[in-house]
Amino acid sequence: MEVAAKSLLFYVKSKLDIREFDSKPIPVQVITEILEAARYTGSGKNLQHWRFVVIQDRKNIEKLAEDSITGKWAINGTLAILVLTDPSYDFHLLDAGRVVQNMQLVAWSHGIASGLFTRFDIEKLRRDFNIPEHLYPSAAVIFGYPPRKIIGKKARRPLRLLVFSEKFGEPFFK
Ligand SMILES: Cc1cc2nc3c(=O)[nH]c(=O)nc-3n(C[C@H](O)[C@H](O)[C@H](O)COP(=O)(O)O)c2cc1C
Repeated sequence: MEVAAKSLLFYVKSKLDIREFDSKPIPVQVITEILEAARYTGSGKNLQHWRFVVIQDRKNIEKLAEDSITGKWAINGTLAILVLTDPSYDFHLLDAGRVVQNMQLVAWSHGIASGLFTRFDIEKLRRDFNIPEHLYPSAAVIFGYPPRKIIGKKARRPLRLLVFSEKFGEPFFK
């Protein structure tokens, strides 16, 4: 199978956050795999405090886009997953980040692109999606098939600027 032949690093390197999508629906088996990736992600103290709201209904995707501050482009997606975490744990956003990345990578291994946003009109979002007070909407991840071949390039700093050896400031890559 082509997917298995590619390394995880291939998917990490080639995944770009995309904000435009094709209208082709994502098969339910793939949605389940994306959610399995979420379920299998490790969380602080294995608390698994996260909950996920799967949104596919066009009207609700429109609402989500409306409720966003930095994700109006969500309107283009065919699937959205709202990631809710328990803010009483000081590591809840780290857990949210891990779960988001795993879902995005599994989606990408199926050729499904995604993007995320984290800024909402929280009160409106809570009302629209019935989010309980004890959970915080940490991220919305929007998925869909890319409308065309993805040819963008990642803008990333080189390792020699990011990585130190033994102590901060000592180059690891010379
Ligand atoms: C914590 C976090 C918050 C983000 N919030 C937004 C957002 O509000 N709106 C948006 O369009 N993209 C958002 N992004 C996507 C980033 O802009 C994107 O991951 C970054 O530009 C790298 O994109 P690339 O992998 O395609 O190079 C967010 C990403 C992260 C990790």
